[in-house]
Amino acid sequence: MKNVIVGQSGGPSPVINSSLAGVYVKAKEMGADIVYGMRHGIEGFLQEKIVDLGTVLTDQAQVELLKKTPAAFLGSCRFKLPDPEKKPEVFEQIFALLNKYEIKAFIYIGGNDSMDTIRKLSDYAVSSGSDIKFVGAPKTIDNDLAETDHTPGFGSAAKFIAAMTKESIRDQVVYQNKTVYILEVMGRNAGWLTAATALSRGEDCTGPDLIYLPEVPFDLSKFREKVAQLLEKKNAITVAVSEGIHDAEGTYICEYASADKAVDAFGHKQMGGTASYLTQYCAAEFGCKVRPIEFSTLQRCCAHISSLTDVNEAFASGSKAVEAALSGQNGLMATLVRESGDPYVCTIGLSDVHYISNVERCVPLEWITDDGSGISDEFIKYARPLIMGENPPIMVNGIPYHLVLK
Ligand code: F6P
Repeated sequence: MKNVIVGQSGGPSPVINSSLAGVYVKAKEMGADIVYGMRHGIEGFLQEKIVDLGTVLTDQAQVELLKKTPAAFLGSCRFKLPDPEKKPEVFEQIFALLNKYEIKAFIYIGGNDSMDTIRKLSDYAVSSGSDIKFVGAPKTIDNDLAETDHTPGFGSAAKFIAAMTKESIRDQVVYQNKTVYILEVMGRNAGWLTAATALSRGEDCTGPDLIYLPEVPFDLSKFREKVAQLLEKKNAITVAVSEGIHDAEGTYICEYASADKAVDAFGHKQMGGTASYLTQYCAAEFGCKVRPIEFSTLQRCCAHISSLTDVNEAFASGSKAVEAALSGQNGLMATLVRESGDPYVCTIGLSDVHYISNVERCVPLEWITDDGSGISDEFIKYARPLIMGENPPIMVNGIPYHLVLK
C-alpha cells in the first residue's frame, strides 16, 4: 500500500493546478493506490478535510481541464506550523493522520512560507523515525523562491501583466489631454512581476515610462521630478509600481495612506493601495487626470492567457516532486534549472528545502537602471522565454470552463 497526499498553500496562481495534475498523474504512474488531496492545505488536513482525487479526476479529460483551471482547486491556506519543540501535539496529530491514511509521500505545492511546512515536517519525520517522505513543488507568481531559476506561476502572471500593460497604454494614448496611469503589481518584496510590465515594450509599444521595484528605496520627491519632466515632453505617462515599494526607512508607500495593515500568519502585511496613494499625490501635484490600475488578484487567476511554457513546467515540477518522494527522498523541493537561454531549455532538479524556506529571492540590482526607475534588457532576456506559448481555455457559453470540486 502506497498512498500519496498533496496540498496547495499560499496565494494561488494560474498554473498551480497544473502542478497538482503533475503530482496526480505521476503518482498513479508509479503505482500509488490512492492520491488524496488536502482541502485548504495543512490547515484543512488538521481538520481531516481530504478528498480522494481518483473520484474527481476520472479520466484524461478531467486532468486536462484541471490544467486549464486557475486558483487552488483543493483550496489553500496561510497557516504557519508551530515549532515542533513548542507544540509537539500538532506534529503528533499530523503524523497520526498520515499513518491512518497510510501515506508514504506528502507533497506540498507552494512558495517560501509553504516550504517552511515541508522543512518542519521532513525534519520531524527524520527525528521521530517515520519513513514518510515530504517534498515541495514550487509555486508563486512572485518568482521569489531561492534555488530555482524561476517559479511556476510567474510566467503566466508576467504574460498577463505584459499584455494588460500594453493594452492599457493603447487606451491611454487616445486623448490629447495630460494623463498619468499608475499600474500596481503584486510581488511583495520582490519586483519580478513589476519588471514584467517591461515585456510590453516592442516596435508597437514603448512600455511604461517609469518602473519602480521594491529592491530600490522609493523617493517621493525624485518620483515627482521624473513625472514632471515627462509631462513636459508627452501627454500620456505610464508608471508601473510594485505593491511593495517602500521608502529608505522601510515604510511601504501603501502605508502612507493607511498604516493600519492586516498581517497574515507569517507576519506579512496585507499590501495594496500604492497606486491609489500615488494617484492622489499626482492629481494634487499636477492637476491632470490620474488613474490607478490595480491588477490585484486578476494577475494570479488569469488562466485564460497562461503561458504554455509555464503550464508544462508546473506539471513537470509536480511530477518531479512526487517521483522524488516515492523514490525515498525527503526534505527537498523540485526546482527549474535553465540549461540554456537561447534556445531556452529548462530541466527539473531538486534542492534542499532548508535553503528555500522563508528566503525571498529578489531581482538582481544590476538589472535595475541606475536611477532606480527602469529595467534593463537582461531582465527581458531572462523573462521572455517564460511567457511563450499559448494554452487556450475550453470555452463554454463564451467564457472559460473550469473543473470545480463540489
Ligand atoms: O504570495 C503571492 C501573493 O499573490 C503576493 O504577491 C501578494 O502580496 C499576496 O499573495 C496576497 O495574498 P492574499 O491573497 O493572501 O492577500
